Amino acid sequence: MFRIDVDNINQKFESLYVYGEQSILTELEEHNIILNHSCRQGHCGSCILQLLSGEVVHQDCLVPLAQGEILACRAKPITDIKIKSRN
Ligand code: FES
Repeated sequence: MFRIDVDNINQKFESLYVYGEQSILTELEEHNIILNHSCRQGHCGSCILQLLSGEVVHQDCLVPLAQGEILACRAKPITDIKIKSRN
């Protein structure tokens, strides 16, 4: 099981415990943390988050990402992670 530390996403600060089988976007939704999203397929870029620590496995996406950015709809944690909204 992995811990997702949420550091201010839609004004939420929480720790979630997940199995790493679902996307971060889905995990957040299941914990009532609302994140902007649209396509859920790595195309639109509206779900970009900042990965502050830890590692994720990231499926292919069409959105150019800066260092430390992930797409919540395409990423799953493979270690404990800490994430926050993109500034
Ligand atoms: S919801 Fe469109 S890229 Fe994640």
